[in-house]
Order: sequence, then structure tokens, then C-alpha cells
Amino acid sequence: MRKIRTAVLISGRGSNMVALTKAAQDKDFPAEITLVISNIPDAAGLEKAKSLGVEALAIDHQAFPSRKKFEAALHATLKDAQIELVCCAGFMRVLTPWFVNRWENRLLNIHPSLLPKYKGLNTHQRALNAGDDMHGCTVHYVTAELDGGETILQHEINIYDDDTAESLAYRLLPLEQSVYPKALKKVAKRIQS
Ligand code: GRF
Repeated sequence: MRKIRTAVLISGRGSNMVALTKAAQDKDFPAEITLVISNIPDAAGLEKAKSLGVEALAIDHQAFPSRKKFEAALHATLKDAQIELVCCAGFMRVLTPWFVNRWENRLLNIHPSLLPKYKGLNTHQRALNAGDDMHGCTVHYVTAELDGGETILQHEINIYDDDTAESLAYRLLPLEQSVYPKALKKVAKRIQS
């Protein structure tokens, strides 16, 4: 079966992008990562992508006079590369309805909480402040509502009495890296069929 051409959008270290890329290098995986784009030109993830043999480039949002013009450049770059599916992975720009609607059901994100809990930032601290027993991560479709699209997969972890925001982030990250490829596989298979 043909692999679905997939791009990953990042802003930083790109560990989830690396996990997606490595999983997709398996010959039986239904997607391939063919492009990595960062809105931050010196994001560490760009070099990691190149070292895995993936084309990686920056589209610096600060170089554009408006969010719309930045998103138009992003969209054009994805289309030029014949991308069919886009994974946000630590991509720290909110995408407007203009962009999101053009990638309906083709745009995924990983969020470090058990959505619908704790949309937005500082999710680990907010889970601790609420006295929750459980925390986790969610891969979801991106819609115009921030962190509000349909869930594809979630992974739960326990919260212990001595946990801090840092310890939760540390324990959750490897699980994010395992659940995101599973979610990508599920969506790519849906597109293939
Ligand atoms: C992850 O915790 C992800 O859930 C959040 O940002 C972090 C990105 O980490 N949205 P990385 O760049 O993939 O290492």
C-alpha cells in the first residue's frame, strides 16, 4: 500500500517528531515523514530531522506581517511537497480556522493532558493543582477550537504524592512518543482505505 505523505510541524527539540519519523521508517508503516517544518529557525529538531534523512526547513513566523500570511506560506509549502497529512508535535503556534479548515481530518496534535481536561498551557501543574489522581496525553484532530478536536488516542499515567510538573513531564514524554506513532498509523490507514 502507498505510504501517506506526512509532514511534522515543530517549534523545539522535536522528540515526538523523531519518534514519528523512526516509526514511519518501518516498511509496513502506512505513513512516511517526508517534511519537517519549524516556525523557530534554530529549533534543535531541525538538525535531528536532517540526521534521519528527512527534509527539514524553517518558516519563521516573525518574518511575516500577519498570522494569515505565515499560514499561507506554510500551507503553500505543504502543498508544494504534496503533503497529505500534518502532525503538530510541540508546535507552539495557534492555527487559525483558515488553515485548520484546509486540513480538516488531516491535521493532528499531541497535547500533554487527558483532554478535554486542561486545554492550553501548563497542563502538568494544573493537574497537580486540581489534586487529580490521573494525568496523560491525547492525540487529537486539530479543529478551530484550541485543543478541542476529536480524540484519536489517549495514554494515562498515575499521579503520585511526590510528583511535580517536571516529574510528570519526564514520565509522560516517552508515552507521548509511543502513542503518537500509533495514532498516526490509525489515521494514515483510514486515509489509505
Ligand atoms: C510535548 O510534551 C508535547 O505534548 C507538547 O510539547 C512537547 C513537545 O516535545 N505539546 P518535543 O518537541 O516533541 O520533544
